[in-house]
Amino acid sequence: MSKKKILITGGAGFIGSHTAVALINAGYQPVIVDNFSNAEPSVLEAIEKITGTSVKCYNLDCCDAKNLNLLLQKEGSFDGVIHFAAFKAVGESVQEPIKYYKNNLSSLWEILELMDKSNTTKIVFSSSCTVYGQPDSLPVTEASPIKEAESPYAYTKQVGEQILTDRVKNGGMQGILLRYFNPIGAHPSSLIGELPQGIPNNLMPFITQTAKGIRKELSIFGDDYDTPDGTCIRDYIHVMDLAEAHVKALQYMEDNPETAIDHFNIGTGNGYSVLECLNAFERANNVKVPYQIAPKRAGDITQIWADTEKANRLLDWKASRTLEEAMRDAWNWEQKLSQ
Ligand code: UD1
Repeated sequence: MSKKKILITGGAGFIGSHTAVALINAGYQPVIVDNFSNAEPSVLEAIEKITGTSVKCYNLDCCDAKNLNLLLQKEGSFDGVIHFAAFKAVGESVQEPIKYYKNNLSSLWEILELMDKSNTTKIVFSSSCTVYGQPDSLPVTEASPIKEAESPYAYTKQVGEQILTDRVKNGGMQGILLRYFNPIGAHPSSLIGELPQGIPNNLMPFITQTAKGIRKELSIFGDDYDTPDGTCIRDYIHVMDLAEAHVKALQYMEDNPETAIDHFNIGTGNGYSVLECLNAFERANNVKVPYQIAPKRAGDITQIWADTEKANRLLDWKASRTLEEAMRDAWNWEQKLSQ
């Protein structure tokens, strides 16, 4: 039987590349589309090395309807789409909101049009726990209210969810929205991982780069939040666990053709503070990371972690890797990178 062919937009990026590996491991054939605005072409060789399978990749922008049409002519239809391609820096989205709205939203509707033209009926959308804003109660469930967006980036995820929901309700399409918590770690082979451009915005690559000596010290943004140690709490999930959730989401749509649209929290269910993360990194890798306490970062929420019961029950998915494992994989990956 021929393998099911899945289009992965943004498939050369951090989560996309790990998802390509998870798909191949599960017997699917991924086809990557990426404009390499935040990814390196060497990722493709690395995926091949990990899986022993070569992956087709088109270097194109998902906002570019003309080139997407050429892709269609070459590939015909797909058995599903996983749509990652998007900008994701919260701070930058505040500085350049139009860039974010234009890119993140037009790529989504171009992909939906491509799906309609090619009779592709299943899509997994990369959403974020950011849609919950500052939650009233924890852990957040899928029924927790969607709060006013804290940034243009967050708003692109909220609107993206709505656009997809409206299209799916119109018939002939199934969609799963995955609300990611904080992905960290790397593939245990250390062949793929996170590749931030310039100074990292996110905690984990900042920690690994500081441990390596690329950055002088980590700034912890605020230590007087209303949490046990005063630093913010997040639900950090190993990127391979997150990647595998996409495979489960596709299988769920295949097994439940009556499902139109559904959404799932994809986290571990555990919250860790910034200081706990730092300690876990130091313990797991036996390295020291210099840090200072810095002012709070605008827009940060105090604490959030996931209720993952729905994903456990319906997708038959559960995060299985530990925080320590993620810390080790992240450090091994960082050490293999040339500066
Ligand atoms: C944010 C978004 C998330 C998005 C992700 C992608 C929100 C609420 N969350 O995650 O949806 O997918 O970015 O980039 O918008 N920290 C430090 N020092 C640092 C960096 C971070 O102390 O140098 C702290 C932050 O204050 C935060 C925690 O570490 O408490 C995690 O930060 P980060 O890795 O940037 O992720 P989020 O902001 O949670």
